Amino acid sequence: MPRPIRASFKLSTLRHNLGVARRHAPQSRVWAVVKANAYGHGLARVAQALDAADGYALLDLNEAVCLREAGISKPILLLEGVFQPADFALIDRYALALVVHDAEQILMLERARLSSQIAVLLKLNTGMNRLGFAGAQVRAAYSRLEASGKAAAISLMTHFADADGPAGVATQLACFAEWTHGLQGEVTLANSAAVLRYPETHADWVRPGIMLYGCSPFADASAEALGLQPVMTLTSEIIAVQDLKPGDRVGYGGTFVARQAMRIGVVACGYADGYPRSAPGFNDRNTPIVVAGKRTATVGRASMDMLCADLSAIPEARVGSPVTLWGEGLSADEVAASAGTVSYELLCALAARVPVVEV
Ligand SMILES: Cc1ncc(COP(=O)(O)O)c(C=O)c1O
Repeated sequence: MPRPIRASFKLSTLRHNLGVARRHAPQSRVWAVVKANAYGHGLARVAQALDAADGYALLDLNEAVCLREAGISKPILLLEGVFQPADFALIDRYALALVVHDAEQILMLERARLSSQIAVLLKLNTGMNRLGFAGAQVRAAYSRLEASGKAAAISLMTHFADADGPAGVATQLACFAEWTHGLQGEVTLANSAAVLRYPETHADWVRPGIMLYGCSPFADASAEALGLQPVMTLTSEIIAVQDLKPGDRVGYGGTFVARQAMRIGVVACGYADGYPRSAPGFNDRNTPIVVAGKRTATVGRASMDMLCADLSAIPEARVGSPVTLWGEGLSADEVAASAGTVSYELLCALAARVPVVEV
């Protein structure tokens, strides 16, 4: 028997969540962001389930090739563009669209041998300060792309640093408007947070990622309140039960100490499955978990293959009882917040050893 841990992917919810994005940005086309193996959900299955998207955005050339080989003919965008000149052979062969974020990439494009022109998105650094052209560089870069003869169309894009936070998008949006004034081209700006909160960013294309997977980009709004449904549910089972006496400690380092007699369940899930080791299981700070349909708390540190849950208020729980780590019934956002991270990290970290089922 394999271990009882499973990741279930409810593909109908991807379509539902795409519908939520479309309702927020009805005039825009949608690049479905499927980088990092579709945020841990499996690239091919997600791309097929999201066949109503207008295009797919990702980072890895090999992932783009996989999508084309799987028969996907819609636009595919490489969000970080080319890494080396040799990449152009596959970009050309598979007709991929390309972000261009620095002068090196323009040089590579100018020198590339292409059988036909490709779609190029010029990336502006309006405040994230990772990738993109700023200020006066923007017009110079645009002119070079035009003069290269390699771009079928030049679009304009930026990425928001704090669309989910207090700074919002206003400053970056103002920079974008100023630097692109008079330049022709389609515009794409909005990640999930901007799709949901800032209609003024929607433009020609939006680029939702996390919301498609049913998680919230915001710390102050739940996925449920936003009408989003989880796609990934990570479940397992209780594989052992322990009766603790007052003073008994749990797990490595004994970070949880029983204050009274209590029952705990050992769950077949650990950090080697992608569960965050940082999720607390202290006496005064713990992480939610669902056992036999009831919400309870983790106790002790998560180890490689196991973690423990308080069964004190779940007398019916026994070996074999179902456990939900996150997903339907317990949002990944909540577990992530407890672990001091974001749901993006939990979803992407799902380990290859976890068996997957589609429902
Ligand atoms: C350039 C770009 N656009 C869009 C997204 C999607 O962002 P989110 O998952 O927050 O919607 C990302 C993800 O980080 C990104 O890097």
